[in-house]
Amino acid sequence: MANYETLLVETKNRIALITINRPDKLNALNALAKSELKEAFESIKNDPNVDVVILTGSGQKAFVAGTDIKELTELDAVSGKNFSEGGQSVFNLIENLGKPVIAAVNGFALGGGSELALACHLRIASENAKFGQPEVNLGIIPGYGGTQRLARLVGKGRALELILTGDQIDAAEAYRIGLVNKVVPLSDLLRMAEEVARKIISKGQIAVRMALKATNMTQETNLTDGQALEASLFGVCCGTEDFQEGTKSFLEKRKPEFKNK
Ligand code: COA
Repeated sequence: MANYETLLVETKNRIALITINRPDKLNALNALAKSELKEAFESIKNDPNVDVVILTGSGQKAFVAGTDIKELTELDAVSGKNFSEGGQSVFNLIENLGKPVIAAVNGFALGGGSELALACHLRIASENAKFGQPEVNLGIIPGYGGTQRLARLVGKGRALELILTGDQIDAAEAYRIGLVNKVVPLSDLLRMAEEVARKIISKGQIAVRMALKATNMTQETNLTDGQALEASLFGVCCGTEDFQEGTKSFLEKRKPEFKNK
């Protein structure tokens, strides 16, 4: 695994743990952090030893406190559009990784930090986590997919409340509106994320990846086309050894032993 300046990456027991590591800047995403995230996720995408990714921030205060505001000040209309598209492409890579990515949100998830969590497939927050889209305070809008993903996840009304006011919400409110899947004490956050990862890893990985692909399509397509994809991927699963094993083990009243074949 490559050495990064802004990330810590560790792979153990089929889980890759990526920690964004700029704690003195509350893990704000500068250009280097974004390009290293891209590199790390590209390498994990093709790594046969990784089934699930956990993404978190270093320290006890922030997941990611947004894009690096210092780097925003140089932008004009054209470079601003490119900047937004560049961030979107990194976050799209995460969403379309083909393997589940769990955000372990350990504090502030603001602006690009909230958008980064939104690009992940599951979000587990610590009790001290805070979410918000404060871009309007800076005279801009969310530019890394936030206007689209937040509204799709929590509904347009709730998304607009966050995006138009710039207000922060705590973990309990984020849970109430469906922005996060679970809230746990900070000291349990990584353990809980690993527990969820282990549960996913215990299933047949072909089925996990097909389920992820089909469910991801809800953001891209209509019901008819989405169901056509679902049927094709269901068929793919039925052709696997894991399907034979999963159904046989149920009928034999034993635990399945999936081979991911
Ligand atoms: N970009 C660049 N630097 C950031 C940053 C960001 N998004 N968020 C925090 N930092 C830096 C601060 O400038 C400070 O650096 P310094 O010690 O060199 O001055 C350091 O991180 C600590 O932040 P600080 O503001 O002192 O911590 P705090 O506890 O008082 O406040 C926040 C925490 C998250 C409320 C505050 O940092 C904040 O509002 N950050 C910006 C959030 C934002 O607007 N994000 C969206 C960007 S589009």
